[in-house]
Amino acid sequence: MAQTFEEIGVADFFYRNRDIAGFTSPSRAVFSAIRELVENSLDAAEDVGALPDVRVWMFKKGETTSGVSIYKVRVEDNGSGVPPQSIPSAFGKVLFGSKFKLRQARGTFGLGGTMAILYGQITTNKPVKVISSAGGPKAFAYKLMIDVERNRPIVLSRKVLNNGSGWRGTIIELHLEGDYLRAMPKVLEYLKQTALVNPHANITFVDPKGRLYVFSKATEDVPRPPKETKPHPYGVDVELLQRLIRATNCRNMLDFLRAHFHRVGEVMAKRFLESAGLDALRDPRSLTHDEVVQLSQEMKSFKWFLPPDASCLSPLGEELLRAGIAKELRPEFIAVCQRKPSAYSGHPFIVECAMAYGGDIPKAEYFTLYRFANRIPLLYDEASDVSFKVIRSINWSRYKISSDMPIAIFVHICSTKVPYKTIGKEFIADRQEVKREILFGIREVARQVQRFLSKREKAERQRKRLNVFAKYLTKIAQFSKELAKKEKPPNVERLLKKLKEIDLEAN
Ligand SMILES: Nc1ncnc2c1ncn2[C@@H]1O[C@H](COP(=O)(O)OP(=O)(O)O)[C@@H](O)[C@H]1O
Ligand SMILES: [Mg+2]
Repeated sequence: MAQTFEEIGVADFFYRNRDIAGFTSPSRAVFSAIRELVENSLDAAEDVGALPDVRVWMFKKGETTSGVSIYKVRVEDNGSGVPPQSIPSAFGKVLFGSKFKLRQARGTFGLGGTMAILYGQITTNKPVKVISSAGGPKAFAYKLMIDVERNRPIVLSRKVLNNGSGWRGTIIELHLEGDYLRAMPKVLEYLKQTALVNPHANITFVDPKGRLYVFSKATEDVPRPPKETKPHPYGVDVELLQRLIRATNCRNMLDFLRAHFHRVGEVMAKRFLESAGLDALRDPRSLTHDEVVQLSQEMKSFKWFLPPDASCLSPLGEELLRAGIAKELRPEFIAVCQRKPSAYSGHPFIVECAMAYGGDIPKAEYFTLYRFANRIPLLYDEASDVSFKVIRSINWSRYKISSDMPIAIFVHICSTKVPYKTIGKEFIADRQEVKREILFGIREVARQVQRFLSKREKAERQRKRLNVFAKYLTKIAQFSKELAKKEKPPNVERLLKKLKEIDLEAN
């Protein structure tokens, strides 16, 4: 039998393989759709340095003949807005986006929100509605569908609205088949953890039953916005080099290196070119393919490049992390630690860890682990995540901590490129450098928790001791009164008060 070969487009590919983007089942689809839209809203607020205000609604619109529910999902934000000419492609084209830069962002592939729209379209055949404004006198409303085979937007209608109030933001409305009841625990957990790791955001959610969930901000401080950065020589490959060479205006290698690479100045560039045996005045466009391959290898093995600078990143910071945890979990004790910036394969990253005890933290079989990357919570595939492995590798008895205590561990990694293992962005690969930072961070907070626990234990012992005193001292006083044949027993209260004071000082 003759084989037939054919090619499929990218939207078609994701249509056929929606599992890899997290749209596996009706319940997972609800979760992923909300997650992707909320992420986009947070990114968009960050772009303009605003305190995010994200409102999510879900309405039940009916049921399919096979009993699956159909919902309308609406997400409104106060972010940057999308320029009207880009609205069709941003929402009606897979792998189209504004985040393909070297910058810390939640979205990475130009896929998430669009995938939710695509999923909604293939399950309900309804268009997506987008209303957006950058805050000017006009807002723009579109009804779109995706031409799956050709990966192109189909604009069904376009309206220009008056925006007298100067509203800025984006509203997305889509329909999808889903199972909210099953998705509910994950959706609520996602929103709670998102609020925890974005303590400057207001998030509200109205579920299909009309229940309102409010996550209010705990701070007015907007975290330092992430900045775009250039590629570091250690992270460069042949493809990237060739693209840079094609695009550059530089006419010699010295300028080329200085202009396009992170932390490469004149001295460093000269030193590198000398060691690689390349003429500083050579036109980069004259390099042959073999020379480009050679250049990328030399870059990776040159030992003197400065490590990537993490000032382009936007970690949460110890104070905000603490505020977020306090707000959502109200624990008795919180330890936080921000590690120094580090890098893997030329990508800068910062790890932040925290450990909290008591309050609303449940007793779990093996701690409760909260994982975050670029300020988004990761809720699935925990056992495959690097943090999970690190936690399991620690000998907790050394810290006098047992895994069934009401303890939560938090790991946040932010990077211009988070080493996710899947497109669904659910878990982080165990890169050696990342693993090391997580381990050191957790050790640091574990020591603080150990100190807290031992203090608490001591206080507990003292309290018991005082209770015993309080119980028996009055009796002893009574006996001694009788023995000494006195009128009144000695004043025990004063003695007890003194003992308490001594205890307080000892702590
Ligand atoms: N709420 C929003 N506000 C502003 N821009 C948005 C919003 N949602 C999506 N966009 C734009 O649409 C693009 C595509 O979104 P998406 O498919 O989720 O991919 P990604 O977030 O990975 O880039 C984004 O890169 C962004 O430019
Ligand atoms: Mg996105």
